[in-house]
Amino acid sequence: MERVIIFDTTLRDGEQAAGGALTLEEKHEIGHQLQRLGVDIIEAGFPHTSPGDFAAVQLLARELRDCQIAALSGIKQEQIDSTWNALKEAEAPLLHVVLSTSDIHLEHQLHISREQALELAVEAVRYAKRYCSAVEFSAMDATRSDWDYLCQVLAATIEAGATVVNIPDTVGYVQPDEFGALIEYVRNNVPGIEKVTLSVHCHDDLGQAVANSLRAIQCGARQVECTINGVGERAGNAALEEIVMALKTRSDFFHLATKVDTAQIYRTSRLVSHYMGMEVPPNKAIVGANAFAHASGLHQDGMLKERTTYEIMTPKSIGVGESRIVLGKTSGRHAFRQKLEELGCTLSEEDFARAFAAFKELADKKKEVTDPDLEALVAEELRTVSETYHLEQVQVSCGDHTVSTATVKLVAPDGQVIADAALGAGPVDAVYKAINRLVQVPNTLTEFSVKSITEGIDAIGEVTIKIESEGRTYIGRGASTDILVASAKAYMNALNRLLAAKGKE
Ligand code: KIV
Ligand code: ZN
Repeated sequence: MERVIIFDTTLRDGEQAAGGALTLEEKHEIGHQLQRLGVDIIEAGFPHTSPGDFAAVQLLARELRDCQIAALSGIKQEQIDSTWNALKEAEAPLLHVVLSTSDIHLEHQLHISREQALELAVEAVRYAKRYCSAVEFSAMDATRSDWDYLCQVLAATIEAGATVVNIPDTVGYVQPDEFGALIEYVRNNVPGIEKVTLSVHCHDDLGQAVANSLRAIQCGARQVECTINGVGERAGNAALEEIVMALKTRSDFFHLATKVDTAQIYRTSRLVSHYMGMEVPPNKAIVGANAFAHASGLHQDGMLKERTTYEIMTPKSIGVGESRIVLGKTSGRHAFRQKLEELGCTLSEEDFARAFAAFKELADKKKEVTDPDLEALVAEELRTVSETYHLEQVQVSCGDHTVSTATVKLVAPDGQVIADAALGAGPVDAVYKAINRLVQVPNTLTEFSVKSITEGIDAIGEVTIKIESEGRTYIGRGASTDILVASAKAYMNALNRLLAAKGKE
């Protein structure tokens, strides 16, 4: 299959993201990971703009041997000199020169005419060629440039020795079909275009960077410039992982390949996100936390029957372990049963029905019910102690400058609902005193511990207590997302054990 060249610019355009600056050590690590990922070209920086970029380009040019190293330069000779100084030790250097071609940029930013820009571009490419055989020319703001003028500049830079010509959509303005038409226009109207690599570089201001890149590829571009997680200036660049996985997953449509080892995608994404301090949104294509998470009952049912019903690629293909069946309020019995089986819990139909009802109740309170949540829930539901008293309701009022007050309702052995209230030194004390007023079994609380058995602010807490009565110790446990309810459950659990033991005497 014909190949598309993946030009990664995470360390140059990506680092231009507001607040995304990287240290030399971080660039070093990301550079090595990008090489492992198998990108063809790493643009390592813009050397004449900062000593940090110079050092990063120099370091990666020295160390990375399995990919081409590119560095960006302005058109001035001293800028090209400095860029080359940083780049020259690379095994396969690519000197990348940029100049705008749109009237908006020429008039308002550079204050030069089209003719002057054409001349400057040609001179810059000629000068860069004195150093480096591989030279890329980028026509900044190409998509807002006059098409014929753009073609004229590209033809002249190819004539001057450019080996790659790049069509950037610098401000993320173009639409896919329009961009496709421009690429075709360039291919049909630039003499010499067939001898060089035609590249595209898309920004995401209108959310079209990946769509535009793929459209350009369909229309004959053979290099795409992109960044990990789509990081970059303003709304960012085209996301590398999305382009690569689109080409791979829809090879039946594109008939094109890349040399990226897709199993390295997730790792690279995490590394870039971590070092740039830019969180990947959970719904981000390919690398978002939910990209392989199935939450609705209908989808979970399909997934459990046959993965391809709701997944077009495997998480393994990007280096993530497994798809996730996320149990939540829309999950059904099928997913719940499967999850319990995975956790090694086989329940009778009656216990399953109780556990499922408890799960639905929990799922209404928690966004996601995790494996430890489920283990705690099943353990709680299947507690074997026969209950003499059943905790029906607990309500607590507490805070600073307030005396803690608890109201408790229990179902007594004769089925009557009984209720009482008590004040306490703290909320747990108040709950226990209210229960004591109803159950009236003398005992002493000897231990009380609480731990979070699941993660997050909405975690399940488990309370374990020990009570003593007539020289014997009784343990009680209770779990709930509400720590006071867990405390009440634990106490009732210990009291019921005590009452069961007394009943046997
Ligand atoms: O967006 C742009 O035009 C660029 C060029 C330097 C390629 O980043
Ligand atoms: Zn850019």
